[in-house]
Amino acid sequence: MPAPIITGWGKCLPSAVLSNADLETLTDTSDEWIVTRTGIRERRISHAEVSDMAAVAGREALAAAGVAADQVDLLIVATCTPDRLVPSAAALAQEKIGAAGCGAMDLNAACSGFLYGLAAADQMVRTGAMRRVLLIGAEKLHFFLDFTDRATSVLFGDGAGAVLIEASEEDEAGLLAFELGADGTAADILCIPGSGTEGDPGASRRTRVQMEGPTVFRRAVEAMGDASLRVLEKAGLGLADVDLLIPHQANLRIVEATARRLGLDPARVAVNLDAYGNTSAASIPIALVEALEQGRVQPGAVLVFAAFGGGLTWAAAAYRWGSRVTSRGSAGAALPPSTASSLELLAPNVALYGKGV
Ligand code: ACO
Repeated sequence: MPAPIITGWGKCLPSAVLSNADLETLTDTSDEWIVTRTGIRERRISHAEVSDMAAVAGREALAAAGVAADQVDLLIVATCTPDRLVPSAAALAQEKIGAAGCGAMDLNAACSGFLYGLAAADQMVRTGAMRRVLLIGAEKLHFFLDFTDRATSVLFGDGAGAVLIEASEEDEAGLLAFELGADGTAADILCIPGSGTEGDPGASRRTRVQMEGPTVFRRAVEAMGDASLRVLEKAGLGLADVDLLIPHQANLRIVEATARRLGLDPARVAVNLDAYGNTSAASIPIALVEALEQGRVQPGAVLVFAAFGGGLTWAAAAYRWGSRVTSRGSAGAALPPSTASSLELLAPNVALYGKGV
């Protein structure tokens, strides 16, 4: 049976930076509160669309694997903020990547979307149905931010991360175990109401993130910790075997509490939310790419991924890295240039909802 492994990886971070000091001009908050309560110092605001960011990350992942775009069998974009409802962000990104003809679909499991996609891609390659799946997490969350709500508007950022999953001869490596879960009875705890077909067809389509923060916090720590333990058990591994935990980058306190629940010291936990905030489905692949760039992933390393988000969804995976930890090349892909500042890019949000200061 083919062993599916990650052979390429790439990311896209838009250039406009929104600092906590910038946020102080938009909502009733402070750098001190945001850093203490979330660990976030800045985040990126995209001037381009989700499919543009997905295409940059996807092209880099293909170059890192040394694979041509026309060799991709399926493109999955995990996102809850697609450019349009129809066609999918995946179809739009396919054209920008130059992967014409492959299957293309979006996957929405909110912040857990990348891990849902990893499980789906793995199983499709494992059966032999597909040889190469390009999986991208990409989000433009700033579109849904209302700066009169300080509890949500300081948390989120934009970006994309991608991996190429290919059949290989490395029979020890790849996805060892995974778990996917959801609790639809808690759908309203974290949601973007009115963003689809519900409600009045004549009403404004602009809607905003709503969240019961403390409930999400508690449930995220429990679900990510417990699901991580279960996937390790399924894989026949213990916590001592884990080289790196790569959790969804929601909030430093959530990440630290999850690591404490697992008894993992900070040296074995990947954290980059200080620089990017919560990028939902993009957060785990961006953190994985940066861990590889920093030499934190060695050949044969055991990684644990864990995520939690709207749905409420959760997911975890135990993964053994393959023999190659360096890229085969770079595509030099980039978003179209922009000189707009983050505050300029957020002007439509302010015009719609006003400011919280
Ligand atoms: N600046 C200043 N004060 C604030 C801010 C802000 N940005 N946001 C909230 N506050 C105030 C509240 O109004 C409240 O004031 P009060 O005591 O006068 O009423 C006080 O801070 C405490 O509010 P809490 O909501 O209890 O604060 P908490 O410590 O729980 O932090 C937070 C809020 C950061 C949202 C936290 O609950 C959290 O991170 N929850 C998880 C949510 C999350 O990460 N969601 C992302 C999507 S889901 C996912 O990805 C996992």
